[in-house]
Amino acid sequence: MNARVHARQQAQLAFDASGQNLIVGERSQCPLAPEVLAALTAESPLVVQQFGGGLTARVFRLAINGREYTLKQKRAEALVRNVDGQTSFLNEVQRRADFARLQADPVWAERFSHIVPTLYADYRLGIILSPWLPGAPLDRFDEAIFRQILETAVACEEAGLMEWDLCPGNILEDNGHIWLFDFGYMYPFDPLTEYNSNGLSDPLFHACERFETRHFFGWLLQHESAIPAPQALALFRSLKSVAVEVYQQKWHWLQQHAASQPVCQWVSSQVARWQHALSSDTALAELFELENFRSQVLDIEDDLHGKSCTALTLRRLAFVERCLQQRFDVLAQGGALFYDNAGKSQEQLLASYHHKRALAEQYLLSAAERL
Ligand SMILES: Nc1ncnc2c1ncn2[C@@H]1O[C@H](COP(=O)(O)OP(=O)(O)OP(=O)(O)O)[C@@H](O)[C@H]1O
Ligand SMILES: [Mg+2]
Repeated sequence: MNARVHARQQAQLAFDASGQNLIVGERSQCPLAPEVLAALTAESPLVVQQFGGGLTARVFRLAINGREYTLKQKRAEALVRNVDGQTSFLNEVQRRADFARLQADPVWAERFSHIVPTLYADYRLGIILSPWLPGAPLDRFDEAIFRQILETAVACEEAGLMEWDLCPGNILEDNGHIWLFDFGYMYPFDPLTEYNSNGLSDPLFHACERFETRHFFGWLLQHESAIPAPQALALFRSLKSVAVEVYQQKWHWLQQHAASQPVCQWVSSQVARWQHALSSDTALAELFELENFRSQVLDIEDDLHGKSCTALTLRRLAFVERCLQQRFDVLAQGGALFYDNAGKSQEQLLASYHHKRALAEQYLLSAAERL
């Protein structure tokens, strides 16, 4: 276990056990007493809509005196059976406190215009109250959308916050305006000396990769039959063009703030890699293949770790098995076999993914039984 991650988890578990509270905002911003909000149930006439699918929280859309609110209530027991899942509500209240400070700071405020404001949050009561955001889960891409997501995620990184879960359920689009509102898996780090909230051990994870892994490549896989390969590549080109610009700006910021050499070097190496990919259709297709495979592999691990497998997990597994059968040499040479997959033969990898598929099917089944 990564020591940096372990220390953060221990601090959060200790905070939870301590009985201390964390409150964000003012009671006066609440349209009802916080205790009343904490006790609201789906039967309340104030509840206009509910999102019950969350693993650590329940979300209600409320209408009170002509205004609409989003109330997130902590579940008594998280359905994700790992530490990060169990502490994700606390983590979100901690991040809401960070954003309340950043959004009140003129130096940062403008860069967080895609982050939902927090009206009030109380960890011990188990509530987070935000304005209701009109719109729908993000289900299309263009350059302006890529830009808003990457600029916001990189602004978070510069403020020392790494967002791990940029999944479709955590991004809303309102007429071209993007909103981020779920910070259960966003962790602090030092952007000047660390790659991300795992410290210096896993440079693989960063804003653009997180968006590609949790969202973009899964979305493309789901829309495989409707989106022909050239269209998928055109979207990838647009995403990487934006990423080059945003990461170049990040590089300048790192330079201005005297960031460590490995961190600066790593960002410039990403930019160079993407610029090379953008230089020809062949290079772009090569990078697409490697990063698509990387993202499906990483997301499978995420689902297995959280025991939160879905039909999409099985689809990702089928995709990875197909790639391993047909493109093993290209993937091995391109550096797409990392962590547990590094150094394994094609046969060993196929056996390993066969086993992962059986596990995913089992988790899917037990999830269905819980309903
Ligand atoms: N401020 C908001 N405005 C509009 N809709 C929201 C807002 N906050 C959340 N939602 C809706 O509620 C859904 C669930 O919210 P959120 O992602 O915060 O919790 P969750 O993912 O269910 O919880 P968990 O962290 O337990 O998985 C979102 O996918 C979104 O559709
Ligand atoms: Mg969510």
